Amino acid sequence: MISRKINDSLNGNPKIPGDKSISHRAIIIPAISKGVCEIRNYLKSDDVQNTLNAFKSMGVKVIEKENKLTIYGNGLNSLEKPDKEIYLGNSGTSARLLTGLLSSQNFESILTGDNSLSSRPMKRISDPLMKMNAKILSNNGKMPLIIKGQELSNSEIEIKIPSAQIKSGIILAALNTKGITKIIEHHVTRDHTEIMLSAFDADINITNQSSRKIIKINGKKELNPKNIEVPSDLSSSAFFIVATLINKKSKILLKNINVNPTRNGILIALEKMGAKISYHNKKFLNNELVSDIEVVSSNLNGCDLDEDIAKLMIDEYPILSIAACFASSPSVFRGLGELRVKESDRLNLIKVNLLKCGVNCRVDGDDLHIFPHKEYNINNRTIQTDFDHRIAMAFTIMGSRIGPLEISDANSINTSFPNFLDEFNKIGGNIS
Ligand code: S3P
Repeated sequence: MISRKINDSLNGNPKIPGDKSISHRAIIIPAISKGVCEIRNYLKSDDVQNTLNAFKSMGVKVIEKENKLTIYGNGLNSLEKPDKEIYLGNSGTSARLLTGLLSSQNFESILTGDNSLSSRPMKRISDPLMKMNAKILSNNGKMPLIIKGQELSNSEIEIKIPSAQIKSGIILAALNTKGITKIIEHHVTRDHTEIMLSAFDADINITNQSSRKIIKINGKKELNPKNIEVPSDLSSSAFFIVATLINKKSKILLKNINVNPTRNGILIALEKMGAKISYHNKKFLNNELVSDIEVVSSNLNGCDLDEDIAKLMIDEYPILSIAACFASSPSVFRGLGELRVKESDRLNLIKVNLLKCGVNCRVDGDDLHIFPHKEYNINNRTIQTDFDHRIAMAFTIMGSRIGPLEISDANSINTSFPNFLDEFNKIGGNIS
């Protein structure tokens, strides 16, 4: 894919697809509820399709019609042993959440993934589950995972890695485990699982003790079905928001975007940099906070972000780094170690590709420093993405200012935002 400088400005109302994290959960939770749920505006992308296929292969009836999924759940312990391995493609969320869920079903299952997923750490989810007596075999802590599902024991689990995927996997295991499972979370991470389970009347109790969150799940209580309208994805919006900020005379309006406060770090960071962003029609949709977001071209300053905000925006550093290239002063983003174990080593790829674009930057331990200039002399126009959708989209936006850039393996974008190219071109983008 080639991303060229835009001809004029960016203007309009691009359609942002359904939130990826919420879409996964809007399949998993209805599939183990006791009844029929209708899901609207779910994300139709490769990652979410892999979650959907997994449940179909475990006997869950699903009807897909236009923009609506109807899922017929049969209860917490109702999944059936699949005929073959469950392939989860590129999706870390499917892998971690299903590992938890399948640990407490009463059959053996095997989870596999693509090259990227097969190189990502899985001990972070299997180790805490093993404390609940789960039997999980792995290839040195990597996929494929063989899960010998069985009755688990309730336990107290501390989570020290900032990861909503780990937390959610354990919660899903606990739902089908007798007694109270207590989870102590040391960092704030996205809370879509807790929000959706409360709506499905799970016996889940959440308290905060100083900086820790305590989640207690009383297992074996069936979930009541609910209909869900998935809000649009802030992580996908971020590419359009930054594109608008860094290109002249531009203005966009994004509708119905999820601005959950455990997820909104990118908005806080950009506002700190001087971004002109305004919010309209704030409301709750299935207990998730949503808002329309209006963005106009802005003069950005650099900023110094600490590691606490990283947990609220871990997926947004590739695109935030592009914003930092057009600020009037340097930026430092601290505590980005988790970026090394995403769909690619994102910390390294941000640096490698910024250097190709002629941007002076440096990684110091887990911190990324970016020193912007007025003009960039591009050293190499071919962007290396290692098949990572967010690196591909972030450098497409870079191309809209300094292009042409050639984005390798750009079909990875189907992981999270299949209409990205069309939506960007519709508002004035210049991608072919
Ligand atoms: C996700 C959690 C995050 C995020 C991922 C989606 C989720 O991962 O990076 O894209 O849906 O729970 P971690 O929780 O592992 O940081």
